[in-house]
Amino acid sequence: MVEMGAGARTGSVAAGGFTVIDRHPPAPDVLAAVREGLARRPRQLPAWLLYDRRGSELFAEICRQPEYTLTATELELLRRHAAALCAGCSPGTLVVEFGAGSVEKVSPLLQALAAPAYLAVDISASALQEVGQRLQAAHPTVPMLGLCADYGDLPDLPLPADWATRPRLGFFPGSSLGNFDPAEACRFLAALRPLLGERGQLLIGIDQPRDPTALEAAYDDGAGVSAAFALNLLQRLRLELGADVDPGGFRYRATWEADHSRVAMALVSVGPQRLRLADLEVVFADGEPLITEYSYKYTPAAFLALAAQAGWSGVDRRCDDADGFSVHRLQPAAAAPDCSASAV
Ligand code: AVI
Repeated sequence: MVEMGAGARTGSVAAGGFTVIDRHPPAPDVLAAVREGLARRPRQLPAWLLYDRRGSELFAEICRQPEYTLTATELELLRRHAAALCAGCSPGTLVVEFGAGSVEKVSPLLQALAAPAYLAVDISASALQEVGQRLQAAHPTVPMLGLCADYGDLPDLPLPADWATRPRLGFFPGSSLGNFDPAEACRFLAALRPLLGERGQLLIGIDQPRDPTALEAAYDDGAGVSAAFALNLLQRLRLELGADVDPGGFRYRATWEADHSRVAMALVSVGPQRLRLADLEVVFADGEPLITEYSYKYTPAAFLALAAQAGWSGVDRRCDDADGFSVHRLQPAAAAPDCSASAV
């Protein structure tokens, strides 16, 4: 068992050589979040609701669809440029991955760094255990820990005492930043600065705007996995909250919205219908959308402008041949974060 410093106040669970520190926040009030989202115009449910067990399986399947090139492109970039992306890191660097991660994506970094340690932060203890055990088996000499917590709301890192002085390299792959709106994205990046420290750096994968047809196909694949992923939300409302709603009454749609530089994913009502949930009765007009998720895309310049507002400056960028996806390396900027003006 790892000896914890003063920051660790909660329990930890070890299995298969991988320890997870438990800082799980109280369970979210799903009904309140759904109520709030259904009252919006357009109606919009929070994207985190997509990721129950079935939703996480479907998302993993999306990443394997030929139209969704993001995952394979990023993996290739990390494999090809790991040494350059880690060039500014001192021996002993602690890689802090936000999200349970993929064994494949972080492995090239752990290989490129001298004497690294690894911390994965994720809200799902089971995802952490699964990935952590596989990663520990692949890198038996690298000290590793999981932290079960909401990485969007992390006041500090509860590290073992002998890890506290390691320089930190944040790792946020997958263009997950794109699922925040720009103001939230700025606040999230700004919050990483104190977490990673003044010597800290951040590697972040960012998907870029490109051909609208290709982007819409990436989010509405021919095999229908993206559609199933969105429709699973309605199943979740039925099973978890007892909602009276007919998933067959909605069709899935993914639209590139150039003005906002984002893909809007929605379930569109086929004909007028009612959704009943607790004391709520929501009437959908024919063609009315229920937004399930936005995926913002940033040009390199737009991303670096956002990062600058959040107190980061770009030091390296690696992209694919078509320049449709980038991995950026950032370091703390001289200026303090100011997210008051963030927009794409
Ligand atoms: C997790 N996130 C980066 C995905 C994306 O590309 O925005 C979520 C997703 N939703 C449907 N397809 C992919």
